[in-house]
Amino acid sequence: MASTVVDASGTEKSTATPTGTQTEQDAVFAVRHLWKVFGPKAEKVPEDASLAELSAQELREKTGCTAAVRDVSFDVKKGEVFVVMGLSGSGKSTLVRCLTRLIEPTSGDLEMDGEDVRGMDRSGLRELRRHRAAMVFQHFGLLPHRSVLDNVAYGLEIQGVGKAERRARAMETVEKVGLGGLEQRKPGQLSGGQQQRVGLARALTVDPEILLFDEPFSALDPLIRRDMQEEVIRLHKEEGRTMVFITHDLAEALLLGDRIALMRDGKIVQLGTPEEIVGSPADEYVRDFVRDVPREQVLTVRRAMRPAESGEADEGAALTPDTLISDAIEAVARSGGAARVVENGRCLGIVDHACLLNVVARLDEEAPDDGKAAA
Ligand SMILES: Nc1ncnc2c1ncn2[C@@H]1O[C@H](COP(=O)(O)OP(=O)(O)O)[C@@H](O)[C@H]1O
Ligand SMILES: [Mg+2]
Repeated sequence: MASTVVDASGTEKSTATPTGTQTEQDAVFAVRHLWKVFGPKAEKVPEDASLAELSAQELREKTGCTAAVRDVSFDVKKGEVFVVMGLSGSGKSTLVRCLTRLIEPTSGDLEMDGEDVRGMDRSGLRELRRHRAAMVFQHFGLLPHRSVLDNVAYGLEIQGVGKAERRARAMETVEKVGLGGLEQRKPGQLSGGQQQRVGLARALTVDPEILLFDEPFSALDPLIRRDMQEEVIRLHKEEGRTMVFITHDLAEALLLGDRIALMRDGKIVQLGTPEEIVGSPADEYVRDFVRDVPREQVLTVRRAMRPAESGEADEGAALTPDTLISDAIEAVARSGGAARVVENGRCLGIVDHACLLNVVARLDEEAPDDGKAAA
């Protein structure tokens, strides 16, 4: 089943439902009914309905198995930042490692660019991990006795690229991530933030089709962390590189994600844009999770607007549909009257003080769904 959704940038997109079987044409990764079960006779769990539906605790008691990833389906679209968020132990690391088979999935289908990853032989997997999907880890994984430049060039070295070329390419990414001048230092002579920039540069140097991040910034101080988040946003804007970004931090997920998959006990409980997750939580768990998010900084006027009454469509300040509520409140306060939401010269609706504040105060939550905001 396909439906039209509106993402945080206000662009309309056609998306398959997360549990659907139809693969997006522009999918880099297509994941269907993926399971990873740890423990004895793990392969029995997904195929036995009486086991597959047990809670994590029941399954552990009955079989000694842990289902770290349970029947997960999604597409990572070309050019998007796909965030996987969830509390510690919810299965995020297992899921991202399954994508390149650093962890072998128990069952399900996994494609990259239409190619069957589960069917790849060793050389196919080597190619996948060295050239196509590069991973950035929380603990950097740097080689302590090598210089920054040689650490950054390491991925190319494994590929067998000659010294002169790999150093030249490494030098480019060293500059790109803001480490220019530090290329001869050893990792131990760098701050945590700088070390993570080296990790990021190393992943970028192989020019992968997709970057995979497993909580890369969790160990960093808040300010440095913010810096690194900005760096990721900048790289994404400038290069449009596809990214899968794992985090347990909701603010980070909302900041970076084009779409967010929220995991709980190995399952995806909701998959949607930040606006969908915050504005239309799928269940009580998600609602609790996003309770403290400042809604006006995530939701847009699309959610707040009401139909125009006679005459209103022609006057007043004009806002684009992806204007944040917080910016709209400012615009309405400044102009002293209602504002129009305009797209392609057409007035979609009106926002005034009352309907904007209703969203901030969550009075919109009980409103009937218009079918567009749901994930
Ligand atoms: N090698 C393993 N053997 C057994 N259980 C594991 C293994 N790796 C992870 N798990 C379990 O799988 C679940 C998900 O772990 P993980 O993917 O690391 O979660 P997250 O990255 O979200 O913190 C946890 O319950 C964890 O204890
Ligand atoms: Mg983890």
